[in-house]
Amino acid sequence: MRTPLRLAAALALAGAGLVLAAAPARLAAEAQPPLQARIKIDTDRVIGEVDPLLFGSFAEHLGRMIYGGIYDEGNPLSDADGYRTDVMRAVKDLGVTVLRWPGGNFVSGYHWKDGIGPKDLRPARLDLAWNAVESNRFGTDEFLKYAERIGAEPYIAVNLGLGTIDEARDWVEYTNEARPTWWANERGKNGHPAPYSVKYWGLGNEMDGPWQLGHKPANEYARFALEAAKAMRGVDDSIKLIASGSSNYGADWVGWNRTVLATLRNQIDYIAIHTYVGNRDNDFEKYMAWSQTIDRYIETTAALIKEVRAGRANARPIAIAYDEWNVWYRAGVKEGLEERYDFEDALAMGLFFNSFFRHADVVKMANLAQMVNVIAPIMTSKDGLFLQPTYFPFVEYGKQRGNRALDVWVSAPTYTPAENRPPLAYLDVSATYDAKGRQVVLNVLNRNQDRDIATRIENQEGRLAGVLAVWQMTHDDLKATNDFGEDRVRPVTRTETVSVRDGGFTFTFPAHSLTILRMKLE
Ligand code: AHR
Repeated sequence: MRTPLRLAAALALAGAGLVLAAAPARLAAEAQPPLQARIKIDTDRVIGEVDPLLFGSFAEHLGRMIYGGIYDEGNPLSDADGYRTDVMRAVKDLGVTVLRWPGGNFVSGYHWKDGIGPKDLRPARLDLAWNAVESNRFGTDEFLKYAERIGAEPYIAVNLGLGTIDEARDWVEYTNEARPTWWANERGKNGHPAPYSVKYWGLGNEMDGPWQLGHKPANEYARFALEAAKAMRGVDDSIKLIASGSSNYGADWVGWNRTVLATLRNQIDYIAIHTYVGNRDNDFEKYMAWSQTIDRYIETTAALIKEVRAGRANARPIAIAYDEWNVWYRAGVKEGLEERYDFEDALAMGLFFNSFFRHADVVKMANLAQMVNVIAPIMTSKDGLFLQPTYFPFVEYGKQRGNRALDVWVSAPTYTPAENRPPLAYLDVSATYDAKGRQVVLNVLNRNQDRDIATRIENQEGRLAGVLAVWQMTHDDLKATNDFGEDRVRPVTRTETVSVRDGGFTFTFPAHSLTILRMKLE
């Protein structure tokens, strides 16, 4: 969660030099011998399926995300519909499986009916969330067509801030109703007679945040969302509903999630949580300890889900949708949230995915916030684009969709990231198994800034082949960035032959690196 206000404060701190404080002096990697660790893999120890929806993203009407990002009418790089074709290619290669829209904070003041019909007749409105003018030239039909073109499931968040329940259920009718009702007919007039059958619907955005238009206390939000859910399901009972869970961790976020879950447990399929991380103290190893917080948010919310379902026969399954996550601590509203990511931010992508995989039984959707220009892996200008370092881990982890997440055993040296924090291992690990291809994938983040870690990797079931496919991101400069025409931070790939003895082999993970190893089982 970030608010313009909080951001202003964060930027003030940065201005005061806090973010730029010197990192603790560290020794060069080559000066010291590698540390030692062990990882044990057992393909029988399955946590759950890596849901394909973990590789979602988010497109908000904010800055240059939509206009000048994915949609740029009149630009020679755009097609007849106004979609930037170069951006669309990069988005497809990113492998986005589900796309959340239209916000974000924006949605709490958005009236979807402004965004349908002939474009030139659509009203321009003030967007109070981001102090902008919304032309409404990109609306529901443009979004749904885009999602179809990139091969992603559309996920629409309804306005439960300043919006009404009627507006929400009309929206479901516009997109999903097959019978000839007013809204279904309007859809036909707008060029799409067949229902879009939008499956995923969010019940508002960050309704726990005082910054949100129409913010409500937990019980009021939950009651309102319950009635909205009933009406939306009245139109189409097959939809999946996502409740607005915690984003405001300075407040009673556990209480918020408990109330929301208790009230909505018979209506919702997911509860959303949001987290933005950053290297605010310019301390790499502390930054990489954010996994403790991500794990805690997931495990606490999972416990609350268990609590509300406990003892009830046929309780509705509820999963977590981590439907906003990313690094965000530098670029504020003034900068259009155009965060410039560096090499260490790419490693933070590993933190999130490893945590999602370790909780694959309960985290069933995740949306990188956002997709283009705004805290995004893809940056555009009028004439082209470049890929930020964070783009590459997303692509590579995404290839594990549908695999089984495994509960691996890790023994590695530990460190204490800050006072009053429990120690954590230098290796942050997840693993998945593709049973059909008989392939184990091991995702390892070495968060030791200076030391390589020589790791004995053992497999419990089946014989490991001696050839590894290695995908790796490493860099001398933690702060290295990419730019137009300058691809300084990219992954490398190679195959490596190892000698497998007694079911295992040793692999050395370089200091401050992210490695994905693919291993065949013979
Ligand atoms: O992604 C940017 C903003 O962050 C979203 O609008 C809001 O939901 C969150 O606070």
